[in-house]
Amino acid sequence: MDVASEPIVSERLRLREFRDADLDVLAAMVGDDEQMTFYPRPKTRDEAAAWIRLNTGLYATHGFGTWLIEALPDLRFVGYCGIRPLELDQVSEIEIGWHVHKRFWKQGIATEAATLVCDAAATRFGLARLVALVHPDHTASRRVAENVGMRRERTTVLEADYPAIVYAAALRRTQADDS
Ligand SMILES: CC(C)(COP(=O)(O)OP(=O)(O)OC[C@H]1O[C@@H](n2cnc3c(N)ncnc32)[C@H](O)[C@@H]1OP(=O)(O)O)[C@@H](O)C(=O)NCCC(=O)NCCS
Repeated sequence: MDVASEPIVSERLRLREFRDADLDVLAAMVGDDEQMTFYPRPKTRDEAAAWIRLNTGLYATHGFGTWLIEALPDLRFVGYCGIRPLELDQVSEIEIGWHVHKRFWKQGIATEAATLVCDAAATRFGLARLVALVHPDHTASRRVAENVGMRRERTTVLEADYPAIVYAAALRRTQADDS
């Protein structure tokens, strides 16, 4: 297995690439109204399947994408977190995103997963900057961005008049940068 495809792990979480067989757990999570409060609407099963395919494509072309989060030791599905290229206000950026199943909210999982993803973005993928887009009323998501050291940079308006705070993080790319 190529290093880029290896799971990203901490003591209690494992982030791995999505597979087609993950569709049931993903579709159930993103089809739920409460989970999707800060999205335009819940996603259909077909949209969830297309999203897995999108990520499979990203793994192949970029090495990264959005990873499924499993809780150790039983590898239970708890959500997803990852990075993807994004055109934001005419600038090419890499966006980090997080989504935790509501059964596991407020246990520090999004913060821990996002910390792992920021580390991987810097050390595995050599990225220098990440952005996160968060609705101003989404306190939990804003806290995740702040917990991983992202700074509020500006506000913007996304598709369908969706307001968002743009958080940004400058990453330390490799240990060699320290010298
Ligand atoms: C946003 C989300 C990922 C947070 O996941 P989580 O695992 O509960 O986050 P954490 O446990 O790491 O908590 C981060 C902080 O948010 C706070 N928080 C969590 N849920 C909260 C809530 N419902 N209301 C207010 N604060 C909340 C935590 O107390 C913690 O605060 P602290 O840093 O001051 O201690 C989760 O609510 C979620 O998946 N929501 C649905 C999907 C979504 O909206 N994704 C983000 C799109 S921008």
